[in-house]
Amino acid sequence: MTQTITVIRGDGIGPEIMDATLGVLDTMNLGLQYEFADAGLVALEKHGELLPAATLDSIRKNRIALKSPLTTPVGEGFSSINVELRKRFDLYANVRPAKSFPNTKSRFPSGVDLITVRENTEGAYIGEGQQLSEDGETAVLTQKVTRRGSERIVRYAFELARRTGRKKVTVVHKANILKSTSGLFLKTARAVAAEYPDIECNEMIVDNTCMQLVMKPEQFDIIVTTNLFGDIISDLCAGLVGGLGLAPGANIGTDAAIFEAVHGSAPDIAGKGIANPCALLLGAAQMLDHLALPEQATRLRTAIVATLEAKDSLTPDLGGSGTTQSFAKAIAGRL
Ligand code: NAI
Ligand code: MG
Repeated sequence: MTQTITVIRGDGIGPEIMDATLGVLDTMNLGLQYEFADAGLVALEKHGELLPAATLDSIRKNRIALKSPLTTPVGEGFSSINVELRKRFDLYANVRPAKSFPNTKSRFPSGVDLITVRENTEGAYIGEGQQLSEDGETAVLTQKVTRRGSERIVRYAFELARRTGRKKVTVVHKANILKSTSGLFLKTARAVAAEYPDIECNEMIVDNTCMQLVMKPEQFDIIVTTNLFGDIISDLCAGLVGGLGLAPGANIGTDAAIFEAVHGSAPDIAGKGIANPCALLLGAAQMLDHLALPEQATRLRTAIVATLEAKDSLTPDLGGSGTTQSFAKAIAGRL
C-alpha cells in the first residue's frame, strides 16, 4: 500500500512531537508517504499567509492529514487556523477518545473508556459574527445550530457506537437555558436516537455532566455534544486519564480527515524536547483505523501501553525524566 498523507508540523512543541511520531510510524513500514505543508505562524513567516493554497490543495488531494498543534493568539489577532481547516473541509465530527492508561497520574487508574464526539463546524465556538463595539464596552457573537449539523453529528455518534460495539450514547446539552440552540440540538438528537433502539441513549445537562465525569466517569461510553461544550469536556476527559499528553483527536468529514492531539502548542515547554508524543501518536493510530488498517492501529496502541507499563523513558508530564525522542524510541522498540 502507498498512501500519501499531508503532514503539518505546527507551532511550539508541534515539530518535536511530529518528528517523534513520524519516526515511530517509519519503523512500522506502512508504506506511508509524507507531503509536508505549512500552516499557522510558520506559514505566515515563510509564505506571508496563515493558510497557503498549497496546504489546502495538499489536503484536498490526499484527503488525510496528520497535524501538530497551531498557536492561536489569545483575545486578539488572527482567528484559529484549526477552526478554519475544520470549516474549509467540513470536518464535522471531532472524535476524542479518553481511555485509562497504566502508570499515569490519573485519579482513575482504570475504568475510563469513553469517546467525546464533538460537533465541529457550528455553535458559539466558530466565532461567527464576533464584534466588539467601538467603545469596547459590548461584545456580541452569533451562536448558530442547525438541524442538519445536529443530525449528522448525532448519527455519527450512534454509528460509531454500533461500529465499535459500544452500548450507550449520552447527549450533553444546555437546553433548559439555551432553549433555541441547545434545544434544537436535543430535539434532533432524540429523533435520531429513536432510529437506534439497540443503543441506550440518555440526556444530561452540561454542568451536571462535568460533575458526573469527575465523580463517576465509568458511567460514560460515548458523549455527543455541541462544539464549545465538546471542547471543554474533552480536555476534562484528558485530565481523567493522565493529562493532555495522552489525548488524541480526529476531525472527520466526508471528503477529508485531519488527525491531531487534543492539546495545543504548549509554549511553556516548547523547544525543551520534553513534550509527550503519545497524544499525536494516538492520533496517528486513529488515522490508521481510518485508513482501514485496524491491526496496525492496535499494534501502535499496544506498543504505547507496553511502554507506559514498563515506565520506560516516560516524559516529565507522566512523572518520568525521558525526552520526546527517548520516549518515542522506547515505543518504536516495542512495535
Ligand atoms: P496546551 O494544550 O498547549 O497546554 C496546556 C498545558 O498542558 C501546558 O501546561 C502544557 O505544557 C501541557 N501539555 C500540552 N501538551 C503536552 C504534551 N504533549 N506533553 C506534555 N505536556 C503537554 O494549551 P494552552 O496553553 O491553553 O494553549 C497554547 C496554544 O495552543 C494556544 O495558542 C492555543 O490556541 C493553541 N491550541 C491549539 C490546538 C490545536 O492546534 N488543535 C488545541 C488547543 C490549543
Ligand atoms: Mg480545546
